[in-house]
Amino acid sequence: MADLPRLLVATTNAGKLREYQDMLAGLPVRWVGLDDVGLAGVDVEETGTTFWQNALIKALDYARRANLPTLADDSGLEVDALNGRPGVYTARYAPTVAERNAKLLKALKGAPDEARGARFVCVTALATPDGLTVTAEGTLDGRIGHAPRGVHGFGYDPIFMLPDGRALAELPPDEKHAISHRGRALARIRPLLEYVLAHPPMR
Ligand code: IMP
Repeated sequence: MADLPRLLVATTNAGKLREYQDMLAGLPVRWVGLDDVGLAGVDVEETGTTFWQNALIKALDYARRANLPTLADDSGLEVDALNGRPGVYTARYAPTVAERNAKLLKALKGAPDEARGARFVCVTALATPDGLTVTAEGTLDGRIGHAPRGVHGFGYDPIFMLPDGRALAELPPDEKHAISHRGRALARIRPLLEYVLAHPPMR
């Protein structure tokens, strides 16, 4: 294992690192998180106005700091009735998860199902220390429910309804990963990642 190249995931969240390992299982890399490379305290400001910009900003910055190929993502929720908001501000929509969900339910109060369309978006970016970048986007369409449901997942999952009538928080992790915006973005970036890992920079 020791001679496998290291791949940094730009997160301090052990759960997210595990998700990446699960969804990209079988890649010939040694997975490391920001804690493992002494960058846990380094916050990169998300100054972009698109998911794509923010994912690239993070991947490039941490790749240079760690001198390692780095995966970063930016994700959020676009609500049709709010003209695509909260979008890149999804994590900053309100101070806590409970307040964010309550604020969104309130914003859509009284709206019928057909006016509650929404999608999760995730852009994953891979950057190498010498500046090579690739990105991939995944989306998951649904609508905002009327009350929280389900015990799985995190964030907005309890109020995000799938076309089959289940809330995203009612899906066990494997089932969510198979259809989620993040799962789709990672599935799309996988062959690009394999290519980049097989072609280290020429010096
Ligand atoms: P990020 O960490 O900057 O990408 O922020 C993502 C925001 O979108 C956070 O508020 C998350 O709670 C929310 N979010 C992203 N993906 C999901 C998901 O799969 N389920 C629920 N909330 C999500």
